Amino acid sequence: MTFLSETLAAVKPSPTVAVTQLARELKAKGRDIISLGAGEPDFDTPDNIKAAAIAAINAGKTKYTAPDGIPELKEAICAKFHRENGLTYTPAQISVSTGGKQVLYNALMATLNPGDEVIIPAPFWVSYPDIVRLGQGTPVIVEGERQLGFKITPEALEAAITPQTKWLIFNSPSNPTGAGYTRDELKALTDVLMRHPHVWIMSDDMYEHLAYDGFQFVTPAQVEPELYDRTLTVNGVSKAYAMTGWRIGYAGGPEHLIAAMRKIQGQSTTNPSSISQWAAVEALTGPQDFLGTRCEAFRKRRDLVVEGLNGCPGITCAVPEGAFYVYPSVADCMGKVSKGGTSITTDEEFCTALLEEEGVAVVFGTAFGLSPYFRVSYAESEAVLKEACLRIKRFCEGLKDG
Ligand SMILES: Cc1ncc(COP(=O)(O)O)c(C=O)c1O
Repeated sequence: MTFLSETLAAVKPSPTVAVTQLARELKAKGRDIISLGAGEPDFDTPDNIKAAAIAAINAGKTKYTAPDGIPELKEAICAKFHRENGLTYTPAQISVSTGGKQVLYNALMATLNPGDEVIIPAPFWVSYPDIVRLGQGTPVIVEGERQLGFKITPEALEAAITPQTKWLIFNSPSNPTGAGYTRDELKALTDVLMRHPHVWIMSDDMYEHLAYDGFQFVTPAQVEPELYDRTLTVNGVSKAYAMTGWRIGYAGGPEHLIAAMRKIQGQSTTNPSSISQWAAVEALTGPQDFLGTRCEAFRKRRDLVVEGLNGCPGITCAVPEGAFYVYPSVADCMGKVSKGGTSITTDEEFCTALLEEEGVAVVFGTAFGLSPYFRVSYAESEAVLKEACLRIKRFCEGLKDG
């Protein structure tokens, strides 16, 4: 009998966490490291949100709460869905968890049986396939089209659906590419799903508020109201409100699914932090104007990074619609040898040599299911991003034919 669970053997540790940790360790050893690996805004949590948390502590709101969220937060989330997405949910249709990650985890644990398939467009957020595997489901990867900004086509979605398909996980704007689906592009996908009533949609809208150049964010239940009864609309305060450490995510969906998710949460974390929930009430009901200001700052950074990377020999970088990531191709660097003598045959080797030789930490594309690419998180100051681009350029200029 083995001590560790057999399911665990199929699960990989998060590569984005590993890269960030390695960068931290190198920094601690005195190396000059620029870390563009982590998916979190460099901005601070707004003061009004911090003040709401402090007030909650002082008011003694420090006890266990209802398992899937205090009524005040559920009301605030219903209002948010109505205001921003045109979706009507009642508090009984809302689940609040310890980060968006736990929302996705609960939903998959509550619904997957061995043999169930979950369609995941690639490149994907690293946790999707591993959470599916933890739930003993089977990830079915559908590759996005490079020339369509890494988005999947309706034909590819149709071809991936089988009688075993339980969910499509949909993420727009995307981590790791920043790609955002327009209303028409999304409608083409929801039209496919309309023909397959057994397939549910888990829409991960975590980057909703980070969309540029007038890109209009839309979510599946809004684009195709007939899918409302089989859609879980997932969101959270982590990225938009710079609250990654507070750990609050939420979802709206059919009551029976929300009840099943509550059961899982009640037997795992009991409830999300009471204090963070009060902070999230303030995030969703307080002033929203800073979202636009921060979005504009991210847009400038995106432009800076895309231009900088496209100036590096061997790298080509598309301009994404949103999030704070770009996903440049290093196909033209394959087969080369770095100044430090590393043969570059994979994106992982490219990223390792870049970290060792120039001290820039980025995450290799293989981790996200599409190679050879790497992900840059540009949630950093313009000065740091400029320096990072200079270093990446120097690294690329040093690559010689192998
Ligand atoms: C696409 C996507 N979904 C969900 C999450 C999880 O968010 P949270 O920090 O709220 O758990 C992340 C975080 O990186 C993400 O990129």
